[in-house]
Amino acid sequence: MLKLNSVRIAYGAIEAVKGVSLQIRQGEVVTIIGANGAGKTSLLKGIAGLEPLAGGTITFDGQDCSKLPAHRRVGMGIALSPEGRGVFADQTVRDNLLLGAYAVKGRDPKRTEELMEREYRRFPRLRERQNQYAGTLSGGEQQMLAMSRALMSEPKMLLLDEPSLGLAPLIIKDIFKAIQQLRDAGLTILLVEQMAMQALGVADRAYVLETGRVTLEGTGKQLLDDPKVRAAYLGTH
Ligand SMILES: Nc1ncnc2c1ncn2[C@@H]1O[C@H](COP(=O)(O)OP(=O)(O)OP(=O)(O)O)[C@@H](O)[C@H]1O
Ligand SMILES: [Mg+2]
Repeated sequence: MLKLNSVRIAYGAIEAVKGVSLQIRQGEVVTIIGANGAGKTSLLKGIAGLEPLAGGTITFDGQDCSKLPAHRRVGMGIALSPEGRGVFADQTVRDNLLLGAYAVKGRDPKRTEELMEREYRRFPRLRERQNQYAGTLSGGEQQMLAMSRALMSEPKMLLLDEPSLGLAPLIIKDIFKAIQQLRDAGLTILLVEQMAMQALGVADRAYVLETGRVTLEGTGKQLLDDPKVRAAYLGTH
């Protein structure tokens, strides 16, 4: 479904992504783990069309989308739930969800209402707070909103950038439960996480990114059992 071929992303002289090639098949959950500054967010932004490529190509559903603007990629079925949530603080929960549906052209308004209902069922807290400004939500609620907003475009592939960042263990459990349910429903997911243990547990396959390069890949289980991964990312030996 998604194929990256030697993708490079640079900020001036700093090359954050140095020739990454990877593939994600339909229905797979793939995780990327890596230390701070490894280039994970840059890579997701490159896939979503929020950072231009300095080299390489990205194909989605057999179509080269390397140069397409972000909203066109949303239209193709790629949705990003960004790091740090990126919700619109001075808009209500409901309006944030509507904005998530905005890039999809020509949809029946009834369908938008159905999708909103689906998200309120997924995260009942969002229903309770639908008229509240997003900026007044707790960190966990903002994360739920970021995920739901991305899902409002009915993506074929969901990109999740550190959904558990800064959240309490109970909320992290809720977020991973939602990821598991999306996976069971057949959604293709690319998950970037610091919580390597949980991420590898939910993932079919995983890549390790180190200073802009893929240094290891395998099934979630293979990486969970890998001594180097355990020492560097799981804090266990
Ligand atoms: N807008 C930018 N301008 C300049 N440099 C940037 C920019 N965004 C990222 N970088 C640099 O690119 C490198 C990769 O950053 P990136 O945010 O992709 O890493 P990350 O793996 O997501 O890290 P983290 O785990 O901390 O979120 C870092 O060295 C960072 O300083
Ligand atoms: Mg990041």
